[in-house]
Amino acid sequence: MAEPAIVSPNADQIKFWNGPGGEQWAKNQEAMDENLKPFADAAVQLASAKSGEQVLDIGCGCGDTTLILADKVGLDGHAVGLDISEPMIARAKARAAAVETMGLPCPRFVIGDASSYAFKSARFDLLFSRFGVMFFVDPTSAFANMRSALRSGGRTAFVCWQPMAMNDFFLVPTAAALTVLPTPEAPPLHAPGPFAFGDADRLNTILKDAGFADISIDGLELDMEIGKGRGIEEAGKELTRSGPLGRMVADLTDELRERVTDAVIEALGAHCKGGKVHLGTRTWLVSARNP
Ligand SMILES: C[S@@+](CC[C@H](N)C(=O)[O-])C[C@H]1O[C@@H](n2cnc3c(N)ncnc32)[C@H](O)[C@@H]1O
Repeated sequence: MAEPAIVSPNADQIKFWNGPGGEQWAKNQEAMDENLKPFADAAVQLASAKSGEQVLDIGCGCGDTTLILADKVGLDGHAVGLDISEPMIARAKARAAAVETMGLPCPRFVIGDASSYAFKSARFDLLFSRFGVMFFVDPTSAFANMRSALRSGGRTAFVCWQPMAMNDFFLVPTAAALTVLPTPEAPPLHAPGPFAFGDADRLNTILKDAGFADISIDGLELDMEIGKGRGIEEAGKELTRSGPLGRMVADLTDELRERVTDAVIEALGAHCKGGKVHLGTRTWLVSARNP
């Protein structure tokens, strides 16, 4: 039987994150969180969540940053993670259940599209995200909707990618893959996806038009260690199954995917010192206030 069509402007993303994108991430959650920890640290520091606050983590995925924020706001506050991906939210809920049994502050996880979710009241102090807000077809209306969840004077703090051309973390594995695969058609400029907010001026306009004030967008350059302690082969596998490359290889045969993985591992040789693979990254650290 044909799958029911998803009626939403974000249908492509909903399909991807409920299919191979979300399944791979949920399966490899620990390695993903380990690789992305420096960005959790930077964004959580920027967000500066305090005891007793109400926090909403957008595109929370498997819940890593929601759990960190729940710990920061403590038992007097509350953290909620919102995401469209059922496999990733299932993983997040399992982690929350483990935390709850220890009597620690426990976040709640909800499935929903942040661009159209009907937030019941403007009660959140903080709208947070680690790489979860770049996937909207209409980002201005999505941010206006998310702002409706913030109390007056509440704030947003998130981290998103600068353009792919500035990020060896994506460029190196993708260039290696293209020695094996045909070059795909370039996506339209600003298409929903990891690099949708690469242009800081455009991002500033989106946030302003969505009603935010005191917008600040600062560049962050980080050297990222991939596959910590797991060796170059594992680093190559991790890079091949995640991000835009993960999307490129999702529908390939096992044989072709293996050839791509081998090409990525070979390319990482030039970025491996003492058994550690390092690739450069550039992101934007973004903050703004709900007037
Ligand atoms: C790159 S992942 C980041 C996940 C998580 N924040 C982390 O850092 O581990 C992007 C996340 O955004 C979610 N996402 C994409 N579009 C969304 C939407 N319209 N509403 C809510 N979540 C969305 C995806 O399902 C995915 O979990």
